[in-house]
Amino acid sequence: MEVGKPSRTAFATASARAYHQIAPEPRVFTDPLAVPITGVTAQELAEKAIAATASEPSEEIAFYRVRRLFMASRSRFAEETVADAVSDGARQVVILGAGLDTFAYRNPDPALRVFEVDHPATQAWKRQLLAKAAIPVPDSMTFAPIDFESETLATGLASAGFTRDQPAVFVWLGVVMYLTGDAIRSTLRYMAEQATPVRLALDYVPPAADAAPEHHAQLRARADRLAALGEPILSHFSPAELAAELRAAGFDDVEDLSASDLIASYVGRAELGPDPERLHARVARARRT
Ligand SMILES: C[S@@+](CC[C@H](N)C(=O)[O-])C[C@H]1O[C@@H](n2cnc3c(N)ncnc32)[C@H](O)[C@@H]1O
Repeated sequence: MEVGKPSRTAFATASARAYHQIAPEPRVFTDPLAVPITGVTAQELAEKAIAATASEPSEEIAFYRVRRLFMASRSRFAEETVADAVSDGARQVVILGAGLDTFAYRNPDPALRVFEVDHPATQAWKRQLLAKAAIPVPDSMTFAPIDFESETLATGLASAGFTRDQPAVFVWLGVVMYLTGDAIRSTLRYMAEQATPVRLALDYVPPAADAAPEHHAQLRARADRLAALGEPILSHFSPAELAAELRAAGFDDVEDLSASDLIASYVGRAELGPDPERLHARVARARRT
């Protein structure tokens, strides 16, 4: 991230979730706060989406659509993991690199505490957007400003009142790829050492070399675009490598899905468009009981 500036990718993923609310069906994930939190009206969002794709060939438009479906699907996947954890007794949710995630502001259960961990610059920007949209911050929600590369989750969450000896669920979407291996490993260990049962949902990017050769140039262009935004991709894992990291950290129950399998599980394969493997992203969840 650029020093002192909020995450630009957080705005991009939030815009995708927002546009998903007004885009043509199928609706994978319903979030009435997704549009207001962006600070952009539904009409402006629709106009931007039309302008952004006006001169694109039809396969690019199909790709934007499946990418948007993935952003919505990974949020649904994470919130399902949270619901499972709550039915197992968890009363603490930690959203790491929360960006403009709105779960905390839709959470109807005052006894379910939500901790949003994010880079201080992104969090300060989010607080302005919440105020601008008149979205109340419930008493169950606590901000924990932390830079993962220079501060530990342990310190940041402890000062936010997070309890280590109670079960918890961690959501880590759109972040792992931007961190170093060391920061990822220490965060995974911290999460796995939480009182059981503990659950985690995350997404990650496999190595470009594992993609089909026809996708290599597009993946290089994506990496270059992110680097130019000041948010370079620093970590890749194959599914086997990620499972090994999760198990080494202490998690014992790993489920892993490609982006296209995840979307298809919600809306069926017919909605995937011509080339969904181009997404080259995966989700995983893990548990320690
Ligand atoms: C792509 S956004 C994802 C936001 C949100 N989870 C979502 O899915 O929309 C990446 C998030 O990671 C956060 N992030 C990136 N590097 C970070 C760091 N070193 N410490 C804390 N947060 C970081 C950014 O502030 C941003 O909120």
